[in-house]
Order: sequence, then structure tokens, then C-alpha cells
Amino acid sequence: MKNGLEDVIAAETQLSDVDGEAGRLIIRGVSLDQIVSTATYESIAALLLDGPTERHFSLAEFGPRLGEMREHLFVHLTALDSAALGLPPVDAMRALIARLPDGDDFEAALRLLAAPAVFLPAIIRLQAGQEPLAPDGSLSQAADILRMLTGQLPSKEQTAALDAYLVTISDHGLNASTFAARVVTSTHAGLTSSVLAAISALKGPLHGGAPGPVLDMFDAIGTSANAHDWLSRALDRGERLMGFGHRIYRVRDPRADALKEALRPLVSAAQVDRDRIVLAEAVEHAALAILKERKPGRPLDVNVEFYTALLLDALGFPRGSFTGVFAIGRTVGWIAHAREQALEGRLIRPRSVYIGPVPQAA
Ligand code: CMC
Repeated sequence: MKNGLEDVIAAETQLSDVDGEAGRLIIRGVSLDQIVSTATYESIAALLLDGPTERHFSLAEFGPRLGEMREHLFVHLTALDSAALGLPPVDAMRALIARLPDGDDFEAALRLLAAPAVFLPAIIRLQAGQEPLAPDGSLSQAADILRMLTGQLPSKEQTAALDAYLVTISDHGLNASTFAARVVTSTHAGLTSSVLAAISALKGPLHGGAPGPVLDMFDAIGTSANAHDWLSRALDRGERLMGFGHRIYRVRDPRADALKEALRPLVSAAQVDRDRIVLAEAVEHAALAILKERKPGRPLDVNVEFYTALLLDALGFPRGSFTGVFAIGRTVGWIAHAREQALEGRLIRPRSVYIGPVPQAA
């Protein structure tokens, strides 16, 4: 038995491949570098859902249909009661998604792609005491999310940065949330249920809940000169450094560099706090040196969440909502895996070894 199912193969997939030794990610045969430099949310969604050769719809059709679905879903916000509104954004978003019907068809998939993009910005605004803004289906998903968040049409750089984030995190092998989605799909529960299970797995700090705490860490460290001491003390207390380490990568997570690159145009356009970037680089540098010294047997490097924190902060998302933005981007991966699992068809039902007490003989 392997604790945490480490290295256990539990599915065959044509969706993405994570090479943890080489630090490489491929999605549907395309390398992450190529994806980030050319793809938009709509194009990666079409690629993941349809595959490189078969097409159920053209890209020109997909964007408008997704936009139409966003507009259609806005009315569902009325289901957000005050109890749900008091929850962290990802939980409030999950509560709204839970009210959508289950289904397995393309319409159900489109609904689940649009729902978090509409619900999360609205929840963020409502929690800040602002009116939610209705979607504009003529915009791209990334531009519309930013417009619904801030009330202003985003700049070209901002839209490109969010697109780069959404495509970078669209799929990533059999991570915990994707596995959860596949398990639920294997019971024929429906796509909404699969996505809800996946969001629940994602929100933990060991998976998609890390970027908010990364910003908390920057704030607590405060200055570059303080980085080494602060990080050493955190490790002395037995804490894990958020934004470092990965189950699969034994080298730098390639998504971290993709996002660092995506931040660059925002820095040039003065849309990022430069002091924070300088601090982040100092923290990264100090953490890598200390981790190398403290954990010589375990290569630990920066992961995707480190630069996610900087990017989403620069785009105006409050830190408490970062996991929700992760869910907006990853839903397409979950749905693609759910469809693949449905085709494979067999119930996922592993076994456990009983190590508890046995009945005593009378
Ligand atoms: N800081 C300090 N020590 C660490 C860290 C870290 N971030 N990550 C792993 N270690 C240590 C761990 O304490 C253990 O040491 P020892 O052998 O002395 O007990 C050793 O490295 C091996 O760790 P592990 O528990 O076997 O690693 P894992 O594969 O179970 O954990 C992880 C992977 C991501 C949960 C972990 O690295 C971690 O907790 N990182 C911090 C949280 C974080 O950044 N999460 C986002 C992950 S990336 C998003 C995604 O793709 O899901």
C-alpha cells in the first residue's frame, strides 16, 4: 500500500502529462510554453473538451455560446442567501453551483464552465458591499471576469495575464481535485456533482488553497532583509512554506515560471506593486537556500501557487478569493476528465486493508 497513493497509476488520460523529473507539462500534446504564448481560455477549453481533431463546435461558436451562458446564469445569484454570502468566496460559489441541475451533456458542461466565472466576481462585490455586475457575453471569459470584478473594461495586459493564468492551470494530470471528480463521475452522479467534489478537494491549503497564505507570508515577512530569519523560524515551528514543494515535481514547477512571465507586462505597465515583486524574489531565493539545507533528501522548489498569488493580487482579486479563481480555470480540466472517465465506464472502487479489532470468540 502507498500512503497518499503516491506513484499509483489510477487512470489513463489523453488530456495532460506532468513530467515531474524534467519539469514539463503537456496539455493535449501541446507544451505549456506554447500554450501560454498562444492560448486563450476559450481555445484551451475547446482543446480540452473536444480534442485536437474531433470538433463538436468551432472556436468561433464556442466563445459566444459561453458568453450567452454567462448572461443566462446571472439570475441564479438571487439564490445566494445571507448564510452563503457570509462564507469564504469559494464556499459561497460552491453553494450556488450546488443549486445547478446535474447532467452529462454539452449544455451541462457549458453551464459549469460559465457558472464560477459569473458567481465569483459577483460574490466578491457583494461581500465588499457593491452591486454585482451582469455579464457581457460579447467579451471573452477573461475580460468579462475582470470587468465584472472591477466595473471597468480591463487593459489588454490584464486580460492577457488572466488568460495566461487560466490556461496554465487548466489541467494537471491526476491531482487530488481531478481524481475526486473522476471518482464521482464513475458513480454516474452527473457533472455538477463531480465539479462540487472537485472544488471541495481543491480548497485545502495543500492543493489550491495555498496562494492566499502565500500573500499572508509576504505581509508577515515585510522586508527582504527579514526573509531568511522569518522563513527559518517558520520551519523551526514545523510549518510548511506555502508556494513550495509538490508531490510530482522534483524540480521547479514549470507553471511558476509561466506565471512569472505573465506578470512581466503588468509590471512594465506599472499595474503591479514593484516592491512586492522584489520582496517575492528575495523570499524565493532565501526559501530555496534554506529548504535545500534543511531537507537535503527532498528536492523542494517553488510551485504554481507562489506566482499565482502575485498575479491574482495584481489583477485586483482579494486574497480570500484566489482558490475560487483557481476553480474557474480548473473546471474545464475536471469536466474533460469526467468525460474521459465516463467513456472508460468502470466504477472506481479500491479496497482497504482492515487493521482494526476483530470480534472475540464467545
Ligand atoms: N515547506 C517545508 N517543508 C516541506 C514543504 C514545504 N512547502 N513541502 C514538503 N516539505 C517537506 C515535508 O515536511 C517532508 O519532510 P520530512 O520528510 O522531513 O517529513 C518532505 O518535504 C516531503 O514532503 P511530503 O509530505 O512527502 O510531500 P507531499 O508530496 O505529500 O506534499 C505538498 C506536497 C504540495 C502538499 C507539500 O509540498 C506542501 O505542503 N507544500 C506547501 C503547500 C503548497 O504550496 N501547496 C500548493 C501545491 S501546488 C498546487 C497544486 O498543483 O495542487
